Order: sequence, then C-alpha cells, then structure tokens
Amino acid sequence: MSMECFVLFGVLTFLLTTNGADALDCLLEESCVLPCRFQPGAEVIIHWIQLADSPAHSYYHGNDQLSHQKLRFSGRTSLFKNQISGGNASLLLSGVKVEDEGRYKCYTSTVDHNKETFIDLNVYAPVRKVELHQDGKRITCSSEGIYPKPEISWSTDPPSNQNLSEKIKVQQIGQLYNINSSLTSVPDVEFKCTVSTGRNKMTATLFKLTFLSGSSTETTMHCTSSKSPPTGLIWRFNHSQIIVSDGSVMEEWRQQVKSVTMSGDLTLKDLSTDHDGIYTCELRNAEGTYVTNTFLRIEQSQGNVSNLNIHKLGDYTHCYCSSCWYAGLL
Ligand SMILES: *[C@@H]1O[C@H](CO)[C@@H](O)[C@H](O)[C@H]1NC(C)=O
Ligand SMILES: *[C@@H]1O[C@H](CO)[C@@H](O)[C@H](O)[C@H]1NC(C)=O
Ligand SMILES: *[C@@H]1O[C@H](CO)[C@@H](O)[C@H](O)[C@H]1NC(C)=O
Ligand SMILES: *[C@@H]1O[C@H](CO)[C@@H](O)[C@H](O)[C@H]1NC(C)=O
Ligand SMILES: *[C@@H]1O[C@H](CO)[C@@H](O)[C@H](O)[C@H]1NC(C)=O
Repeated sequence: MSMECFVLFGVLTFLLTTNGADALDCLLEESCVLPCRFQPGAEVIIHWIQLADSPAHSYYHGNDQLSHQKLRFSGRTSLFKNQISGGNASLLLSGVKVEDEGRYKCYTSTVDHNKETFIDLNVYAPVRKVELHQDGKRITCSSEGIYPKPEISWSTDPPSNQNLSEKIKVQQIGQLYNINSSLTSVPDVEFKCTVSTGRNKMTATLFKLTFLSGSSTETTMHCTSSKSPPTGLIWRFNHSQIIVSDGSVMEEWRQQVKSVTMSGDLTLKDLSTDHDGIYTCELRNAEGTYVTNTFLRIEQSQGNVSNLNIHKLGDYTHCYCSSCWYAGLL
C-alpha cells in the first residue's frame, strides 16, 4: 500500500517536472518575479535561460555571473541573494518587455541535486480606460495602450439588428495597441462598447438622453449611480466645454457650480437660458465608463404651469412642460 503510494507520487512528480511549465502573467513595463525553488545545498549554481538559449541570468561561486547574459536583459535581472541559501532561485525581472515573452528554464544545481523548472511568461497591458465621445450624431469608443491586440464590440438596448462592429480602427504604437470604433447614434437607445484583451475587459455605457426642466436658482443633475466609487469624473456642456474635471471647476463655470457630490451629482446655481443645453457626466470607476446626457432647460417664469414648449434638438423634436419639475417627454 505505502509502496503503491510512493510509486504513484514518483510518477506524478516526474510528469510535472518534465512537461509542466507554470504560466506567469507579467504586466508590461512593471517588475515580475519568476518563481523557482530548489533543495538547499552547497555550491549553488543557478542559470536562468529564456528558451531557445538566451541566457538571462547566472549565479555560481557565490556571485552573479553575467558575462554571457543577453544584452537585452542587462540591468533588468536580479536574484534574491539572501534567500538563495534557503532554496529560493526566483528571478526578479524589471521593466518587462514584449520580447520577454516565452518559456524560461530555471536550472539549479548543488553538490547533491540538480533540477530544471520551466515557466511560460506572458506579457500583457490591460484595458485601463474606455472612452466614449459624442460629436454630433457620431459616437466614438476608444481605448489606448493595450497588449496583446484588443477587440472592440458594441451592443444596444433595445437590441439592434444592424451590424455594429464595423469601422474598427486598430493602431500599433511601439508594441501597444490603440483601438477605436464609431457609429451613428439613434434616439432612445442605450449604447454599450466593450474593449477586451485575453485577460480583461472594460465597458463604456452611453445612456439615453434625459430631459430636465430646471430652476434658475438651483438645479441638480445626476450621474449614473454604480456600485464602485468613481475614479474619474468630468462634466461637459454641449459636448465640448468642460465644467468640472476630476474635482476642479473651470474658471468660466465658477459662478454656476454650487457643488459636486462624491457620487458625481452636479448642482448649478444662478442660471439663465444661456445655460440651456446638454450636460454630460462622464464617470469612470473600476468597472468602466458611464456617460449620462441630460438636456437641461432653464425655467424662465416660475410657477407658470401653462408653459408648454416645443424644442428641436438635432433631429429630434421634444415637447415638454417647462415648469413641471420632472424630466421626460410628454
Ligand atoms: C523568493 O524570495 C522572494 C523575496 O522574498 C519572494 O518574493 C519570492 O516569493 C520567493 N520565491 C519563492 C519561490 O519562494
Ligand atoms: C460585421 O462587420 C464586420 C466588419 O465589416 C465583419 O467582420 C463581421 O463579420 C460582421 N458581422 C456580422 C454579424 O455580420
Ligand atoms: C481612431 O483610430 C485611428 C487610427 O488609429 C486614428 O487615426 C483616429 O484619429 C482615431 N479616432 C478617434 C476619434 O480616436
Ligand atoms: C448648447 O446646445 C443647445 C442645444 O443644441 C443650444 O440651443 C445652445 O445654444 C447651446 N449653447 C451654447 C452656449 O453653445
Ligand atoms: C405664464 O405664461 C404665459 C404665456 O407664456 C404668460 O403670458 C404669462 O405672463 C405667464 N405668467 C407668469 C406669472 O409668469
């Protein structure tokens, strides 16, 4: 019984050490530790080799031996010196590059044992930010600095049967990819754009336009509430002018901005009809980007309930009650 167990264990370790290579994901331009352990002993020799045959780092006679090191690893590798005697041959690789991808062999030997460990290193630069911009009827979704090559896809609510994945542009700058895609906006539709690489994805959502009839003394507009706290917030007017960007209020808007809450809601004061227009909240958090457009119309005469308006906004005509204190179409 115990013999059987021993044999089985032996076979398993054999399989793991001959065919097994652990996969390791390393962030581009960051530092990464390639793990390797061995049974401690005297006269330690360590060779780190990127297959096929690019010496990355060697250690013997108690010192780093870098005379055969491939030039592109120069100054970027080190061992944890004070842990070598304890059996730690891990390699610290800094400033990770795309060329660092591939299989590595960690060869260790002491007077008693020698061992080979294999690691497959994959390099990636995740999607960190997806932007959605509207310019007239054109909506563009974009993201930058991604590796490996990203993909982009659109969806709408309600679903659309038109092919939305057209006009995708991918550009490679150095080793990183930039991607963008544009489409034509349609009224009363919510758009979602997702940029993904093998390892992560992020989504930007453009909500349907809402209408708000606001008071000239004070009006609050909302961003979309989402679970994660915002990491970035921009309020824009008429798709161009910036009102608030990451906490700082632009000079031209100091008179009007009363407050911006933690969740992104914007309160304006002392408004006139000059402030009629579209207010865009672009909120970013760990999950993605949320773009909320509010069409604000400032009430001129308060308390006048018989004030029905017809407003033409681009291609759409809206009829609404300007004193009714609620947003929506009639
Ligand atoms: C080796 O030591 C370093 C530094 O303490 C540590 O980060 C790493 O996890 C260790 N590796 C192994 C395989 O023990
Ligand atoms: C949508 O268009 C893209 C680019 O022209 C094409 O590659 C893709 O196959 C199309 N998808 C569908 C479902 O027609
Ligand atoms: C989209 O990508 C193309 C090619 O990389 C670039 O020329 C263009 O300026 C981008 N457009 C936008 C709106 O980002
Ligand atoms: C903002 O946009 C609205 C609607 O298109 C327009 O009526 C208004 O004149 C614009 N305001 C400014 C200051 O550009
Ligand atoms: C209410 O609106 C009507 C039509 O625009 C206008 O004639 C009237 O003077 C307004 N009343 C007040 C109290 O503002």
